[in-house]
Amino acid sequence: MLDQTTESLPLVQNRNDWWKGAVIYQIYPRSFQDTDGDGIGDLNGILNRLPYVRSLGVDAIWISPFFRSPMHDFGYDVSDYRDVDPLFGSLEIFDELVRRAHSLGLKVLIDLVFSHTSDCHPWFVQSRSSRNNPKADWYVWADPNPDGTPPNNWLSVFGGTAWEWETGRGQYFLHNFLATQPDLNFHNAEVREELLDVMRFWLRRGVDGFRLDTVNFYFCDAELRSNPALPDNERSDDIAPKVNPYNFQRHIYDKNRPENLGFLRAMRGVLDGFGGRLAMGEVGDAQRGLEIMSEYTSGDGLLHSCYAFDLLSGDRISAERVAAIMHRFNVMAADSWATWAFSNHDVVRHATRWGLSEAAQKTVLTLLICLRGSVCLFQGEELGLTEAQLNREELRDPYGIRFWPRFRGRDGCRTPMVWDASAENGGFSDVKPWLPVPEGHRRSAVTAQDSNSDSILAHYRKAIQLRRDWPVLKTGGLLELRAEGPILSFHRGAADSRLYCAFNLGDEEKEVSMPDGNWSVLFGTGNRPSGGALRLEGWSCVIAGEEIGG
Ligand code: BGC
Repeated sequence: MLDQTTESLPLVQNRNDWWKGAVIYQIYPRSFQDTDGDGIGDLNGILNRLPYVRSLGVDAIWISPFFRSPMHDFGYDVSDYRDVDPLFGSLEIFDELVRRAHSLGLKVLIDLVFSHTSDCHPWFVQSRSSRNNPKADWYVWADPNPDGTPPNNWLSVFGGTAWEWETGRGQYFLHNFLATQPDLNFHNAEVREELLDVMRFWLRRGVDGFRLDTVNFYFCDAELRSNPALPDNERSDDIAPKVNPYNFQRHIYDKNRPENLGFLRAMRGVLDGFGGRLAMGEVGDAQRGLEIMSEYTSGDGLLHSCYAFDLLSGDRISAERVAAIMHRFNVMAADSWATWAFSNHDVVRHATRWGLSEAAQKTVLTLLICLRGSVCLFQGEELGLTEAQLNREELRDPYGIRFWPRFRGRDGCRTPMVWDASAENGGFSDVKPWLPVPEGHRRSAVTAQDSNSDSILAHYRKAIQLRRDWPVLKTGGLLELRAEGPILSFHRGAADSRLYCAFNLGDEEKEVSMPDGNWSVLFGTGNRPSGGALRLEGWSCVIAGEEIGG
């Protein structure tokens, strides 16, 4: 049994702290809403659907990359940081989107991919052209070993060596992802200054902050030392699937470098100059994720929050597991602010990953909403969408194509949003979409759930509203955390108000005794009183409130 406390923060939030405890809705633009009839979503589509997003009750949207890109990694390979790809729209439409979102009370976060660019970026085109051009040192270049092999053992997350040969320079360049995604050289001060200026460009356009892609990959070891091997028993599939040899190394030299902290401080300096803007880092590391998260968010001078991978992994959700994660977080990262998520554009949708029934999806969402930290939801999870089962010919993700069939890549979670159960392609597009809309998804469309008060969609709205109504769920302490069999329980507390939260994360009905005091049930699913206790059906929950001193 685990039992520990966390300090609570003042419940009246400073306006600049809007992100503390916020619910953020992730939009993957390619798959949200097509308005120009090319089968690919666009910014105009997001603009048109903002009232729906607002109806969920979320505080902010995070839009995955929409910058100019050859789309080898679907926008995570940027060829111009200061422009919108014509596929998605224009800067004018983006500005209008920000205006409209703000008028609806929604903050806008964009996704900055700084660790690497596209190989089509003019910086790289110039850099690769010779060893002595003005951008020659903007990427990570290295001579081959005397036997012609790459300079060290670093591997790409997407498979194979992380080094690609460039005949023109007679050198290798580093790519932590695709060979068309060369890594920028953060040891070069001009590179760092240029990227800070990209941030200013978007902050001036009114964005409320950034999700920082692969923030722990920015710097690599200046001496390019090889990573040590990772023993078999320490490997996990949190970041890369088990079949990927990337998991066979301890990533101490290719990423997670201490020099990164200086740049994060400089980023924070830029953000603070604008006020109330958020830096939320994506820290991908299977072994040291929490530790790095804590390092990057401690104090007031670095990132505000980091995006935690712990609940994005394949390990099934259970009371014991969630309690262990919260416990580790408290021990290792007590003064950090986590952002928790179950699904995103990189992992198998959690309804499928954890094999959850509709009742179970409602329960785990309620749990997410009750955790201390901020929350990221991924488009479509509020409809209960499952992972789409695509065949080999339908795949678009180079990662899945490479590791098929042992790992099927990320297309299954990126299929289009479904708006209208009776429309072709679920109302996403009038033409064949870039990824298919599974028939089962169409039946879960917004129109099929909107007016049904028992639907998953309705439950998401109610649970998010609960968090709005009870600030203690955003910033209160998390106390008396316990895992007993399938029951996870904790209190969210502050001086004058306290909530008791209990979740049955198992199939069988269980009884929970309410803590001492005068509690009344505020919210929940599948629970009923039984004497002085409560019976919780399999995969159900209860949130009860107590006024202290009232
Ligand atoms: C993004 C991925 C992307 C990778 C490389 C990630 O963590 O979320 O979608 O492929 O960074 O940019």
